[in-house]
Amino acid sequence: MKLLEQTRQRAAPPSVRARIADETRMSHEALHTHPVLSRLMAADLGRKEYATILSRHLAFFEAAEQISIRLNMPHAFSFQPELRLLRDDLRDHGWPGPYAGLTLQTPCQALGMLYVLHGSRFGAQVIHRNLRKALPMHRHNFFGDVIASDRWRLLLSELETKGAQSRRYSEILHGAETTFSAFGTAMQTAEARPRQ
Ligand code: HEM
Repeated sequence: MKLLEQTRQRAAPPSVRARIADETRMSHEALHTHPVLSRLMAADLGRKEYATILSRHLAFFEAAEQISIRLNMPHAFSFQPELRLLRDDLRDHGWPGPYAGLTLQTPCQALGMLYVLHGSRFGAQVIHRNLRKALPMHRHNFFGDVIASDRWRLLLSELETKGAQSRRYSEILHGAETTFSAFGTAMQTAEARPRQ
């Protein structure tokens, strides 16, 4: 019986989440060495530099929220909590408008986007450890926020349901790839400014 179970487990197809994570691995890992994003992990991160990167996050999450609303994505996946944290962190700075370089057309593509941006909270925990040391006197509400596990579980369940159909899977993958790539481009425009 035990052997039968093991054989079944071995034969089980990978989850939609595992397939998407695998197929987007290179784009995700490229962000780890991204010239601007990797500054968040630097011991000498400057406060203006930090504010500039946060501001680019705000612009990107604003754009993602607009896409979610336009494509009627479930409210449970709204980025309003993240937007509030970002605006609070940037309360002494100007706020940018939404980033213009992210275009998605269908709810399944938007689901891929939601996976990427909600999943980015895992990396945020690593970044927060550095921010606490590099800029201890600054606000880190956005990066310090823990992943909402209920929301993440719900998102994964939506991924598995929708992604079971191959046409939809391709759209989700397209949405995820597009988001990783646009995110890198959006951060690239955040030129490092003189540190203070
Ligand atoms: C630059 C710093 C980053 C670091 C250090 C980092 C690190 C990590 C780590 C440690 C995980 C968890 C892996 C696991 O437990 O299996 C993760 C997952 C993830 N990260 Fe990143 N990440 C970073 C940036 C980003 C960005 C900017 C995005 C998206 C825009 C992103 C999207 C994701 C996604 C979608 C997952 C979930 C993958 C899955 O399904 O398991 N990450 N990241």
